[in-house]
Amino acid sequence: MEFPEDPNLLVGLGRPDDAGVYKLRDDLAIIQTVDFFTPIVDDPYVFGQIAAANALSDVYAMGGQPLCAMNIACFPSKTMDIAVLHEILRGGLSKMREAGVVLAGGHTVEDLELKYGLSVTGVIHPEEILTNLGARPGDRLILTKPLGTGILTTAVKAGLLDADGSARMSAVMATLNRRAAELMESCDVHACTDVTGFGLIGHAAEMVEDSPVGFIIRARALPLLPGLQGFCEMGLLPAGLYRNRDFRAPMVDMDPSVPAPLQDVLADPQTSGGLLIALAEGEAETLLERMHREGVPDAAIIGEVVADAPGRIVVR
Ligand code: CO
Ligand code: CO
Ligand code: CO
Repeated sequence: MEFPEDPNLLVGLGRPDDAGVYKLRDDLAIIQTVDFFTPIVDDPYVFGQIAAANALSDVYAMGGQPLCAMNIACFPSKTMDIAVLHEILRGGLSKMREAGVVLAGGHTVEDLELKYGLSVTGVIHPEEILTNLGARPGDRLILTKPLGTGILTTAVKAGLLDADGSARMSAVMATLNRRAAELMESCDVHACTDVTGFGLIGHAAEMVEDSPVGFIIRARALPLLPGLQGFCEMGLLPAGLYRNRDFRAPMVDMDPSVPAPLQDVLADPQTSGGLLIALAEGEAETLLERMHREGVPDAAIIGEVVADAPGRIVVR
């Protein structure tokens, strides 16, 4: 397919990135993104919170500030109580409030399956856009949320995750990437994305593909949700995990000493995952300390950027 080109479209479909960016003036561009999906937790209010946090995240991943949003809902009104939809929208609204984002409208269609999400508009200075490309040799990689939400939501569906584990998982997904994004603003960040459906390996791949750099990922340094290992050993894994792993396998050099559960987690599809940030070593240490002090407790340095493995992801 050929896509229309426009000199004001600063980030479009040319290569994978988190959101579209369109320049309005030399000092102002708008960021646009949309995301919606079927419920991944039972509580409709919490599902609304997670879906909204997930949709807002792509604006944060571009380094931007979200301003307003529209609800997108698909609802089976013949088979489901409308109160469920109200709870979802209330959950979404709570996250928009927390983000300082105003709800500008929305649209609901009749559908067999419930779905909810947002279309979000944000702003950014055209010279401050953080794309997926730009990581430099010697940079450190920071991941701001623990991994494992795909494996744990699969365990919930199988009735195998306890209430504490489920609450922790939901809390991580409902957490806005706002604080992490605000903290990274004070640093010279070279590249950023957020970890969602393609898993850490897939989103890391987007940052190195066709680029002069590669990533080394230290599997044992990955921040993880509790309880993952048991589900990995049982083979209770989401279908998307296998797709993610197979799709990116040609770019990945996996050290055989990496424990099997960590190999699984690397490809686990995330919902509303953390930011993956590349910045110089010294700044990374400082940013990490600030994150730990100021509301991003799970952030970790998970690897580094190298020049001698262009376009590759080396997992050790
Ligand atoms: Co994204
Ligand atoms: Co997205
Ligand atoms: Co990006």
